Amino acid sequence: MSFNTFGHMFRFTSFGESHGLAIGCVVDGVPPRIPLEAADIQRELDRRRPGQSRFTTQRQEPDAVKILSGVFVNEATGRQETTGTPIALLIENVDQRSKDYSDIKDKYRPGHAGYTYDVKYGFHDYRGGGRASARETAARVAAGAIARKIVPGVTVRAALVQMGEHKIDRSRWDWDEVGRNPFFCPDAQAAKFFEGYLDGVRKSGSSVGAVIEVVADNVPAGLGSPVYAKLDAEIAGALMGINAVKGVEIGDGFAAATLRGEDNADEMRAGNDGKPLFLSNHAGGILGGIASGQPIVARFAVKPTSSILTPRKTVDRYGANADVMTKGRHDPCVGIRAVPIGEAMVACVLADAFLMHRGQVGDAPTWPFAKR
Ligand SMILES: Cc1cc2nc3c(=O)[nH]c(=O)nc-3n(C[C@H](O)[C@H](O)[C@H](O)COP(=O)(O)O)c2cc1C
Repeated sequence: MSFNTFGHMFRFTSFGESHGLAIGCVVDGVPPRIPLEAADIQRELDRRRPGQSRFTTQRQEPDAVKILSGVFVNEATGRQETTGTPIALLIENVDQRSKDYSDIKDKYRPGHAGYTYDVKYGFHDYRGGGRASARETAARVAAGAIARKIVPGVTVRAALVQMGEHKIDRSRWDWDEVGRNPFFCPDAQAAKFFEGYLDGVRKSGSSVGAVIEVVADNVPAGLGSPVYAKLDAEIAGALMGINAVKGVEIGDGFAAATLRGEDNADEMRAGNDGKPLFLSNHAGGILGGIASGQPIVARFAVKPTSSILTPRKTVDRYGANADVMTKGRHDPCVGIRAVPIGEAMVACVLADAFLMHRGQVGDAPTWPFAKR
């Protein structure tokens, strides 16, 4: 099995490598009659695009998306809408510079996937990491843009909450700030600090990691499945599947282990709007693998970029010791561009859960239930 496909009912298969002709995906399972223009997808791709500030890789990729199939102008509405057939999306690679990697042709970059791909497939695509490159994540963001249109009312947002050892001040959290600085950071003061900090890291030929928090609001209670496809497990898998992610937390995550039961369990009261009112959200919006209707909160930790200018010890394909230094163009903190990717993956999980829920339970009775 190759596992290039994500999802159950909302599913996409991505293809392409860093230095190939193009990348893209085929998105299947999208319900018909959803308005969809290339601009809806482009908006999200533009947030992930490289080369937009000195804090990300200088590779210049316009990431212009083409919708090849699966849409048609609906005469009744005059809009371009999904037809229910597979939606193929294509993004051309235009700024490959394979020459940058010729020095490391036979050497493995420590921390990158060169060795493991070679040991598994017998191929070493040294050009920008081949299929292991985060170029592939453009396909995820494109699929995520479609996923966002599937669950009515849901919003999925993410923000960078830690860079290296420096955490933001959560009391200064402002979602509007996320779009105003090059770090997707909700704390303006922290973003200002990150400028000097990351310049220093980059100039020293090094890199740092980051933590990103994803919040999904207005998720209908009931989405998700118990036992083997728990919504939290699906989200954790989706986030862990992003390049360079080494940890995922839902709600309080690892900190929940330090709480007492009376502090951790989110107390409930009858709300005024026909929904229960939770007095806290330690669970991160998921109980028993099923959405509670509270905001879904997930965090993921991204490791520091492994391609750095500082020489590192490695081995080559033929068994000899070597030193490696990666010139090329790299993000000094890949966690920055991971922000829209994390949003996209959570949006895909929620779209998938929504379609599966609708498929199995349809119009289930709603809480509060009538007493017999
Ligand atoms: C947005 C983004 C950009 C990335 N860019 C680079 C890069 O320029 N250089 C690099 O060594 N790794 C980069 N990575 C990480 C590698 O793709 C990743 O570490 C590699 O595929 C090995 O997989 P693993 O870290 O998940 O084990 C990037 C990751 C993301 C999310």
